[in-house]
Amino acid sequence: MSEHKVYPVPESFQNARIDREQYEAMYRASIEDPETFWAEQARQRLDWIKPFSKVKDVSFARDDLHIRWFEDGSLNVAYNCIDRHLAEHAEQTAIIWEGDDPEQSRHISYRELHEQVCRLANALKARGVRKGDRVTLYMPMIPEAAYAMLACARIGAIHSVVFGGFSPGALANRIVDCQSSVVITADESVRGGRTVPLKRNVDEALKSDDVTTIETVLVVKRTGGDIDWQDGRDVWYHEAIEAVEADCPPEEMNAEDPLFILYTSGSTGKPKGVLHTTGGYLLYAAMTHELVFDYRPGDIYWCTADVGWVTGHSYIVYGPLANRATTLMFEGVPSYPDNARFWQVIDKHQVNIFYTAPTAIRALMRDGDGPVKSTSRKSLRVLGSVGEPINPQAWEWYYHVVGDGRCPIVDTWWQTETGGILITPLPGATDLKPGSATKPFFGVQPALVDTDGNELEGATNGALIIKDSWPGQMRTVYGDHERFYQTYFATFDNVYFTGDGARRDEDGDWWITGRMDDVLNVSGHRMGTAEIESALVAHEAVSEAAVVGFPHDVKGQGIYAYVTLTAGFEPSDELIGELSQWVRKEIGPIAKPDYLQFAPGLPKTRSGKIMRRILRKIAENDYSNLGDTSTLAEPGVVDDLIGNRMNR
Ligand code: WT7
Repeated sequence: MSEHKVYPVPESFQNARIDREQYEAMYRASIEDPETFWAEQARQRLDWIKPFSKVKDVSFARDDLHIRWFEDGSLNVAYNCIDRHLAEHAEQTAIIWEGDDPEQSRHISYRELHEQVCRLANALKARGVRKGDRVTLYMPMIPEAAYAMLACARIGAIHSVVFGGFSPGALANRIVDCQSSVVITADESVRGGRTVPLKRNVDEALKSDDVTTIETVLVVKRTGGDIDWQDGRDVWYHEAIEAVEADCPPEEMNAEDPLFILYTSGSTGKPKGVLHTTGGYLLYAAMTHELVFDYRPGDIYWCTADVGWVTGHSYIVYGPLANRATTLMFEGVPSYPDNARFWQVIDKHQVNIFYTAPTAIRALMRDGDGPVKSTSRKSLRVLGSVGEPINPQAWEWYYHVVGDGRCPIVDTWWQTETGGILITPLPGATDLKPGSATKPFFGVQPALVDTDGNELEGATNGALIIKDSWPGQMRTVYGDHERFYQTYFATFDNVYFTGDGARRDEDGDWWITGRMDDVLNVSGHRMGTAEIESALVAHEAVSEAAVVGFPHDVKGQGIYAYVTLTAGFEPSDELIGELSQWVRKEIGPIAKPDYLQFAPGLPKTRSGKIMRRILRKIAENDYSNLGDTSTLAEPGVVDDLIGNRMNR
């Protein structure tokens, strides 16, 4: 079994900043005396306006749930990501932008970044945006996305980035939830040679009667494509930034002032607005970025995520820029113009650190070694993986073919909620096991519990919890602190419940086994089954729907939807197509079901609860072990579903 294969720290990493002994000593110190440990890190790594005197004030208790780090200190995130680097490194490249079209790329220096961010910050102020106001970003992967995040941070506005692949409806919901006053977008985005009508989607979202707060739509001209225009509301980005000063003093922010909201799917209801604050978040993003990737001055670092996800926030923008890194931002897709694009970009920009998702690795692996071998990749030193468990086969291919057996792979486990990486190897300190996220980062205390919350010792499986806070932890669900408690702290007392299951092996290495709730991970994108179900039942033909995941070779998990039709509608291939398109339109392309099965009835308990365990088995084509079906209200529906499934 490849599971037991161990790849020791390579020779070339024996002198890395953190070796095994340092890891162990520092880890121990971080757990035994977190206050001293984090105070030192925070003083070393960040520039404070007003130094903090309190380090940590945390309670996970129901009636007193609060998480505060460095609470009497003040600082500005944009200052830490830009201004403090200017004195000696203004001409260093901050962002390398690689366009969808391989002919297009640009280098943006820290000096230029400063001017762009200041101008946009002033433009936002000129449109009335003040500290604490919310600004929604719905953007392509262009430098303006990073400028916009940092411009908000500079003036203390709270950004909410909505992934550019979400539908107008999903965008509208997210605007309504945070009551933002500005949307920053572009005319169109470009991916894989095709355009996506971002501005048109914004127009449609803003038509919703529920959206009442938007005063300004700032539009970046990316393609020059045809768009509608509403005078007074719509403003060209390039005109707005020309009309203002090139300097904007950073706003003094308390360490616990909000930095951003990022919506993520849960097992029930609408997406949650995960709220991250200023000091702890930035410290954690910066520290993990430096140590997990063994970032060294001069390195070219590339994370392939989209800024619409937390990975883009922490590991394209905030962590790297706080560390004065050169961060590469890629507008395109791995398969355009051809499936060697990633490797070509690595050679073109001499990338040293490359961070991507297992789904991309699996998709590229299917094309064989040829496209990889057509490139050099000699510049690579560290490889990273994020978003879902990486299967050992994909790990081995990534290691041997992409990395030529030279580069450690850091399999980084974390979540939108955690702000940064919690379980991961460190390149110079950790022996690697394909498929294992290995060891906790400093200050992180993972543990396993059984369903009653009893802590489990030794090599075993269980629910993954974190016993104490770390600075990057989310602080609340925006506008719904009770939901924050219910989602993460109600299942098990006084610990953070991750929603994931995990296994700890004999060596104390951690293996994430996947979500324990009704959250799917489709190509590294998090999707709530409940969201897809409510999209389906919003269609007139659907009276009831149940969505489950099933193993998918490339996506990790695929989406399987069972649909019960309203009286008067008949099953047909046409209707399958229509319903799939419907979900795509309601939520976005990433939510489109891979399979849709008509179900005259769904397996339910006598109290009416849908038995998803059975639906998952049927979706997996595994009928051998359906478990106890005696509690079903109508046991016959299972046979009907299996019959239908087999006939497809
Ligand atoms: C869920 C969080 C972390 C940023 C991107 C996704 C799964 C994430 C790993 C990994 C196994 C992983 C977990 C987690 N996950 N990384 N290295 N190994 N599983 O953030 O959308 O908040 O999703 O992704 O199930 O709970 P997210």
